[in-house]
Amino acid sequence: MIRLIRLQVGEQEKRAMGKVIRSGMICSGPQVERFQNLFAQYAGVRHAIAVSSGTTALHAALLATGVKKGDLILTTPFTFIATANSVLYCGAKPLFCDIDPLTFNISPYEIEKALRRNPRIKALLIVHLYGLPCDMREIMRIAKKHKLLLIEDCAQAVGAEHGKRRAGSFGDAGTFSLYGTKNMTTGEGGMITTNKKKVSDLCKRLINHGRASRFLHDRLGYNYRMTDFQAAMGIEQLKRIDSLNRKRIHNAKVLSKGLKDLNFLKIPEVPTGRKHIYHQYTVRVKNRGSFIEHLKTKGVEGVPLYPVPLHKQPLYKKLGYGKLRFPNAEAAAREVVCLPIHPGLTKKDLSTIINGIRSWGKK
Ligand SMILES: Cc1ncc(COP(=O)(O)O)c(C=O)c1O
Repeated sequence: MIRLIRLQVGEQEKRAMGKVIRSGMICSGPQVERFQNLFAQYAGVRHAIAVSSGTTALHAALLATGVKKGDLILTTPFTFIATANSVLYCGAKPLFCDIDPLTFNISPYEIEKALRRNPRIKALLIVHLYGLPCDMREIMRIAKKHKLLLIEDCAQAVGAEHGKRRAGSFGDAGTFSLYGTKNMTTGEGGMITTNKKKVSDLCKRLINHGRASRFLHDRLGYNYRMTDFQAAMGIEQLKRIDSLNRKRIHNAKVLSKGLKDLNFLKIPEVPTGRKHIYHQYTVRVKNRGSFIEHLKTKGVEGVPLYPVPLHKQPLYKKLGYGKLRFPNAEAAAREVVCLPIHPGLTKKDLSTIINGIRSWGKK
């Protein structure tokens, strides 16, 4: 079976992690410091703060940029649930607006509509879904015009670019996930990026029990720290991320070439000026259930990410979001299928995927 994900961890990571064990220091220490500096350089920002997950990165980043109880935060309903849950952790209220059906990302047009309905919105929490950056020109313009905080959920977008800027360098803060399925990983882990010293300093305290100085804690904080063990792995992964992403981009080109003439399926579109790093290669099909079943018989895994938009999740239904309608997000949730695109795919794997899909059309 050609699986959706294959871990890209090798000897370099093992050696680096072994060194940390031998050093006797496996908690947050010099490797975390080094990883933060390298990640900040990579993302093109002044500060990076390593944390325990993409979820804790979101929580700390929202708090540090000034999100408070009762604030309204506009986000997308077509994402992993952690995006909106992090808003709930702050006691703030997530509001949803619809996506652009071509890119699956939050639609600037829908953002402006939501702002007209609700001028109290304080922040935009955008998601560069599947590794394709949002329309940052429009989003930056809107954020500036309405004086909104801007937080980028870059969980799936390490190395993605709009213009010459990398994801995580546009907003007041960016957050990354380094979970085991992501383009680069530390097992569990995350990173916050920001150009603002104040936000960075506050994040550092929030993720370490609100510590002001040794033995003194002057605000409520959390234990969201990363270990040196994870950071050592992250440093090695960061050295390889561009080459891993290049392989994904190459695989996407091969798949798109082999599938573009099929009328029962829509391949991903990348607007000009944006670098998609294909955390997922996502196609749309109408009869998804039978498509996925057919792929399985051909030895190819297809996964619908995400089949339930957030406003239809049981948790959000209980919170009163169930009656809302976001037609583009709902259609995407019914039709999307993510196909294997990871850097470990061989030429033969890519042919198997293409031929497997093409044979569905012949049925
Ligand atoms: C868009 C998005 N946001 C947030 C997260 C949360 O990251 P983590 O699983 O590292 O907590 C994920 C992880 O899957 C994600 O895909």
